Amino acid sequence: MTNLARSSAPADRLPNVHLAEILAVVRTRYGLDLTGYRRGTVERRVRTAMIAAGASSSAAYLDRLRADRRLAGDLLARLTVKVSRFYRDAAAVERVREALAARLAAAPGPLAVWSAGCARGEEPYSLAMLLDDLGAPAGPHVVATDVAPDALAAAEAATYPATALGELPPTYRDRYLTPALGTAGAAFRVHPAIRARVRALRHDLSAARAPPDPRRFDLVACRNTLIYFQPALQRRALELLLDALAPGGLLWLGPAEWPAALGGGRLEILDRRARLFRAIRGSADA
Ligand SMILES: C[S@@+](CC[C@H](N)C(=O)[O-])C[C@H]1O[C@@H](n2cnc3c(N)ncnc32)[C@H](O)[C@@H]1O
Repeated sequence: MTNLARSSAPADRLPNVHLAEILAVVRTRYGLDLTGYRRGTVERRVRTAMIAAGASSSAAYLDRLRADRRLAGDLLARLTVKVSRFYRDAAAVERVREALAARLAAAPGPLAVWSAGCARGEEPYSLAMLLDDLGAPAGPHVVATDVAPDALAAAEAATYPATALGELPPTYRDRYLTPALGTAGAAFRVHPAIRARVRALRHDLSAARAPPDPRRFDLVACRNTLIYFQPALQRRALELLLDALAPGGLLWLGPAEWPAALGGGRLEILDRRARLFRAIRGSADA
């Protein structure tokens, strides 16, 4: 029985020691260290998980968490926020499309893309559609990474509810998705040719020492993910993203994210509103 600190009801602030123990269970089971994440978000998610589990206190929840693998899986799924949609922030996607088109025109050939924190695949498949539409050579050149196993499983399944498609241009919807039969409610499956452009892998931005692939990328999209990290972890993860960029490669962040000090002078702003940046040729190693 856990008795490290006065226990708390799910609605109260969690005792530090219980939160640390809960996160230790996640680290041991899944290899994900959440200590560098924003505490407020983590704590809110843990409390929601406690309520969903019907736990009367943090101590009771911790005891059950240690014994119940499914409860730990549920907690990990809640801690990794997977809100996303196809063509998210359409105006910004259009800027990315223009920048990729310019890169392709300057150097015809495959364009390598890394979608870091890819959630259920909405972002990497949207980017694969762009590549296809631009006439970029086929091949598994979009590397989609996430730390959450349920995200990667959904990306592999590549089947989505209509609500995920609200921003996707209708022409793309008609060309690249087919209605999926036999699922609950309206669902759409990504075409095999687009699926074949995407390779989904587990990669942890908070712990990895290297990008997921030795190649340098024409575009690194890491959107709405760094926002969950504290500044120190944001800086470390940003270094990793910068190291992955090809000379003149593009970095695309979420609307609430900004690279500190423009990545130590390694980036220039291509479009402030779209949060689109370009590696400065000749800077350190980009
Ligand atoms: C809000 S979603 C963003 C999805 C997509 N990029 C977008 O903007 O629509 C954040 C994703 O980051 C993932 N994530 C959280 N921590 C991570 C880490 N340390 N390494 C890799 N992915 C992580 C989560 O599992 C989740 O799928």
